[in-house]
Amino acid sequence: MAGSTSFFALALVSCAGDPPSILEPAGPGARSVERLWWPMLWISTAVFLVVAGMLVAAVVRAKRDPDRSLDRREIGWGEPFIAVAGVFLPFVILAGVYVFSLQEMNELANRGKGAATNIEVIAHNWWWEVRYENSAVSANEIHIPTGRPIRLELTSADVIHSFWVPELQVKTDHIPGRTNHMWLQADEPGRYRGQCAEYCGLQHANMIFYVIAHEPQEFERWLAHEVEPAGLPEEAEAQAGAAIFMESSCAGCHAVRGTQAAANLGPDLTHFSTRTTIAGVLPNARSNLHLFVRDPHGIKPGVAMPPTELDADELDAVLDYLEALD
Ligand code: CUA
Repeated sequence: MAGSTSFFALALVSCAGDPPSILEPAGPGARSVERLWWPMLWISTAVFLVVAGMLVAAVVRAKRDPDRSLDRREIGWGEPFIAVAGVFLPFVILAGVYVFSLQEMNELANRGKGAATNIEVIAHNWWWEVRYENSAVSANEIHIPTGRPIRLELTSADVIHSFWVPELQVKTDHIPGRTNHMWLQADEPGRYRGQCAEYCGLQHANMIFYVIAHEPQEFERWLAHEVEPAGLPEEAEAQAGAAIFMESSCAGCHAVRGTQAAANLGPDLTHFSTRTTIAGVLPNARSNLHLFVRDPHGIKPGVAMPPTELDADELDAVLDYLEALD
């Protein structure tokens, strides 16, 4: 008994935090799914119980009287039973569920149509590029205002990925060469985990991103800051780091807007220190940054980023610079 109690306690704990569940909706998109999911679960459970019950009854009867003929007429229910339980009832149930799903699918398809804000999300092996209408660029975090649908344009730079934020919306594919649309809406400010939901290669499971929802005014403030170019760092150490960054291979892949680093192979780092994670997988802290830059493949095997060739002092200065990118 103690074992099963702790099992349920564990199950409850896991429901409360990560990983996110589509059955804990935080916006109208996931609520549509939840509205469909529960009735479908109860209907299928009821059908399963009835069918399993009849199966058990048949087995019990056959055992009790093995010589009995299997002639349906003798059982007494006959053809009308087959017609009602085998044809009419399934038709009514499936047609009902279909009509009900169409309503929710309609809601999912139409709600974002009039959305004023457009955000472009480009999937890469293995990170997410995020572009806003005011030309701010970020990575692995999508900031949105609460309370209204935000339109997303989903594309891919390499293979097919799938965009999924369980607490907010259904999955939508990123397909190379085409643009798919969807919308996101969060009721409350918060941080909602997203995940690539289609196997895309070595780091599929680590293709994590976060949707960060703000009060509308706070979002405007964030967006206005995010579009600003990076300022020149004040401290000498960070300034030295900036110079090393520009001269080393860092600038060959990353952009820092407002500097000569303008490459687009890896994430834009303009306001890197304001992000909550490194590459979606580690909390954005100095020690983690050190780990990641020294050995990216130890954290995310298969990433395009090579281990750094900088010596310890140079690396320290570059980390100072990255931490000054606020
Ligand atoms: Cu990207 Cu799986």
